[in-house]
Amino acid sequence: MSETIHDRFKLLKKCGSGGTGEVYQARDLRLKRLVAIKRVRAAGAGRHETLQRLLQEAENLARVEHPNVVTVHDILETDTSVSIIMELVKGKPFLKLFHRRPIPESEYLVYFHQLVAAVEAVHAVGIIHRDINPRNVMVSREGVVKLTDFGLSGSVHADDLRAGGTLGYMAPEVLRTGGRPGFGVDIYSLGFMSYQALLGIPNFRKLHGSTKPRDWVRWVLSREPFQSLVELGAPVSRAFSRVVTGMLQKDPASRYRSISAVRKDLEAILEKRSSPQTAASAQRAPAGSSLLNFEEQPPPAER
Ligand SMILES: Nc1ncnc2c1ncn2[C@@H]1O[C@H](COP(=O)(O)OP(=O)(O)OP(=O)(O)O)[C@@H](O)[C@H]1O
Ligand SMILES: [Mg+2]
Repeated sequence: MSETIHDRFKLLKKCGSGGTGEVYQARDLRLKRLVAIKRVRAAGAGRHETLQRLLQEAENLARVEHPNVVTVHDILETDTSVSIIMELVKGKPFLKLFHRRPIPESEYLVYFHQLVAAVEAVHAVGIIHRDINPRNVMVSREGVVKLTDFGLSGSVHADDLRAGGTLGYMAPEVLRTGGRPGFGVDIYSLGFMSYQALLGIPNFRKLHGSTKPRDWVRWVLSREPFQSLVELGAPVSRAFSRVVTGMLQKDPASRYRSISAVRKDLEAILEKRSSPQTAASAQRAPAGSSLLNFEEQPPPAER
C-alpha cells in the first residue's frame, strides 16, 4: 500500500474496518510521525450526510480531552472521501484480552479505572458515547486504555440522535423503545463489557448457549436480572461484583445514576485493596457453577 492522501499522509496498513469506514495506520510526512486515519467514502447523493456525520464525530471527539480517549488531530475531505486524522494507538482491541479467558479482577480493575475515567470525561461535556463495546476500546502495549469510535456519540440533550449501537451491548431501554438515551446507556454498556471480561468470552457463551449477539438480546430483554459474577462463581470480590451488577440493572431507574457514582465505589474498592490486611481477606466467591470454567485464573494469593 503506497497511497498518499492530501499530499501528506502515506497510508501504511489497514488496522481496522467497521460499519462506516476503514482505519489505517499512516505516516504524517510533514510532522514525521505515525497517525491513525479513519477514512469514509463520501460521494454522490449521500455525500453531505456522510460529511456531517464525520464532522460531528470529530467535533465530539475534540471536545473530550482525556488521556484515555483517543486524540483527534484534524478532519480532511476530498471529492470522494472524508478522513479523521487521529492519534495512533499501538496496541490491540480490548476484546483480544478476554476472548479466550477471563481477565483476573486485579488486572481488570486497572483497565476499568481508566475506562470509568474516560466515560466520566465524555459525560462531563454532555456527550453520550452510545457505542461502548470491546472493539471500540483499544489497549496500548503499555496497558493504557483508549476509548475510540465516536461515530454514534451525541449530546445528551439532542432529540434527533440516529438510532443505533452495537447489538449485544445496547441497554435494554434502547432495544425496547429506541427512545431518547441518557448517560445510563454508557454505564450499562461498560457494565456489560465488564461482565464479559470477568467471565471471559467462552464462559459468557456457555451462559446463554449461543455465540450470536442477536441471541444475547433475548436474554437482555427478559425480565430476569443478570446473575451476579459472584453467583456465577467468578473469582471476583463481592464488592466489585456489586458494582458490575449495579451497572447492569435492566431498569435504568435502578442502575447507577452517574458514572461518577461508579468511580466513587471503585475508588473505595481500590483503597481497601491497597491496605494489606483488607487485600488479604478480600471476599471471594464460593466455588460456583460447574458449567463455567475459571481455572485459568491466578491463585488467590495474587489478589
Ligand atoms: N486511533 C486508532 N488507533 C489504532 N487503531 C484504531 C484507532 N481507531 C480505530 N482503530 C481500529 O479500527 C477499528 C475500526 O474503527 P472504528 O470503530 O472507529 O470504525 P467504525 O467504522 O466506526 O467501526 P464500527 O462501525 O465497526 O464500530 C477499531 O475497532 C480499531 O481496531
Ligand atoms: Mg467501531
